[in-house]
Amino acid sequence: MYAKAISRLIIRDQKAEAAEYISDYIISRIKSFSPTPEKPFILGLPTGSSPEGIYKNLVAAHKNGDISFKNVITFNMDEYVGIPRDHSESYHSFMYKHFFSHVDVDPANINILNGNAEDLEEECIAYEEKIRRAGGIELFLGGIGPDGHIAFNEPGSSLRSRTRVKTLAYDTIIANSRFFDNDLDKVPKMALTVGVQTVMDAREVVVIITGAHKALALQKCIEGGVNHMWTLSSLQLHPHAMIVADEDATLELQVKTVKYFKSIEQVATAQGFGQALASAKILQKKRDSVIEKLDSPKSPTAKTFLAPPKPTLTRQITPDLIPDSMHDRLPEAPMRGIGLEGLETKEVPLSSMHERVDSAQA
Ligand code: GLP
Repeated sequence: MYAKAISRLIIRDQKAEAAEYISDYIISRIKSFSPTPEKPFILGLPTGSSPEGIYKNLVAAHKNGDISFKNVITFNMDEYVGIPRDHSESYHSFMYKHFFSHVDVDPANINILNGNAEDLEEECIAYEEKIRRAGGIELFLGGIGPDGHIAFNEPGSSLRSRTRVKTLAYDTIIANSRFFDNDLDKVPKMALTVGVQTVMDAREVVVIITGAHKALALQKCIEGGVNHMWTLSSLQLHPHAMIVADEDATLELQVKTVKYFKSIEQVATAQGFGQALASAKILQKKRDSVIEKLDSPKSPTAKTFLAPPKPTLTRQITPDLIPDSMHDRLPEAPMRGIGLEGLETKEVPLSSMHERVDSAQA
């Protein structure tokens, strides 16, 4: 019943346009949230080549004075186990190289799992706790692997999983070997990763999917059912999920699916809704005005708006059944019109049934 229900799929011709759509979206979400030190914006972040363009745009927007990350707290999705933090391919290095070093985010607000922690399990539990204490993630940005994994939630991961130590799938080790001189031996075999449920707990999830090599994953995640072998498919259960893909990534989708999502975007834009969620402020304002109307003594129609419907009785209420009176309710007169004229129900002899079968067969 939940299948085929990703809330929004935005399709752009090129990878760069998909990235632009997302960076613009993140900027508008942070701006409309108006974060302060007391009410920071909690942003979940990914690594990988897909989001590089998004970071590039966010950095450019920051340099233009268009956006500040001062009151943004970040939580990264994952990190390899066992490679030094300053290794060029660690996710720490990636994040500083592509984003953190270029914007005004407070280093104290940056959270990345420590793949070298003495006790890795403790590290994962503490990370979940830290997210919870920060008030939960407002928007989790993600990418996927060609096997449909989100963060490092490889095929077969529990859809209820939380931050934990994960052994990488062979496919992922091959895919990521491009960052390690194409040498499988150099690719870490374990990682720390937020769980599928950790991502699902975010108030909003936005995922970038680009390239023909991710087309099968996108198809499984959108047109297939919710399935732990394609962990991104869990997004079908999320009330505010958005996938932004380029044309190449849609290659395995049915034409009908692509047309459906494109028309949804067109209609929403034409109606002036765009794709953005209404800001919390606007939603609150709307709620207040509805309540105001309901409470207004001058507004009887509004008062009845939420009143329970009045029952309109169209048939008699069945009286309580009293076992002793059952017999009394049997008709005194012979039952008519059922082919047993003249016989009272209790007098139907068993033998006559037999006779009737025989005569019907004759
Ligand atoms: C790794 C990361 C994922 C990321 C994926 C995709 O597996 N753990 O979080 O989504 O890479 O990477 P790319 O965008 O380079 O294809």
